[in-house]
Amino acid sequence: MRLRNVKNASEILKSSSYFIENPLDYYGKISSLFSNQNPIRLEIGCGKGNFLIGMAKEFPNINFIGVEKYDSVLVRAIEKANLEQLSNLKFICVDAKNLPQIFNHDIEVIYLNFSDPWPKNRHHERRLTSTTFLTIYDTLFEGNCEIIQKTDHPVLFESSLVDFSQNGYLLDEVSLHLHQTDLFNVKTEYEEKFSNMGQPIYYLKATKKKI
Ligand SMILES: C[S@@+](CC[C@H](N)C(=O)[O-])C[C@H]1O[C@@H](n2cnc3c(N)ncnc32)[C@H](O)[C@@H]1O
Repeated sequence: MRLRNVKNASEILKSSSYFIENPLDYYGKISSLFSNQNPIRLEIGCGKGNFLIGMAKEFPNINFIGVEKYDSVLVRAIEKANLEQLSNLKFICVDAKNLPQIFNHDIEVIYLNFSDPWPKNRHHERRLTSTTFLTIYDTLFEGNCEIIQKTDHPVLFESSLVDFSQNGYLLDEVSLHLHQTDLFNVKTEYEEKFSNMGQPIYYLKATKKKI
């Protein structure tokens, strides 16, 4: 994603009730962010937020947290969320590798939408579905692990299929053309862009029983 520096990004984030400024304070009590015990789902690399805002509207009894590394990107998601009244949506600005400092077996589902593909072999471990990250996610899930991935990128998709299998996941659903299936779907910004260019969207749901 091309990054433009956004002036006052930090101030814009901090002034929104959707933004969690000190997520580490919620370790072990993340439900208190929502004042209910509804399941919590994460999108890692949420970008400009379309997917999570759409999901939060569609599923009011599920809590959603968007995780984004860059505040200049997250600002765009927060600005869109500020136009809505959604009590089941929050955003945090952290690198995925630090998520175990925030979540402790309290997540139901992780969404990985159009993650950076890191196509060179030598960058394999940077992919958000590499063994490095799948091991991190093990500490986040409350019960069974469930990860839903969408991408336009064949190298990332193929390597994810292998990584999930090698890390004890079963592939419950796989599609090489999500938009030709009946599966429920909320489009992301990248998905809109790539499908408008005629590219197929790859999709999978991977699950693993609680360890
Ligand atoms: C290609 S964009 C996709 C954005 C959005 N999910 C979509 O589909 O439109 C990938 C996003 O993931 C974020 N990202 C990449 N690595 C990350 C990490 N380790 N932790 C958190 N966010 C990350 C990037 O900053 C970027 O916003």
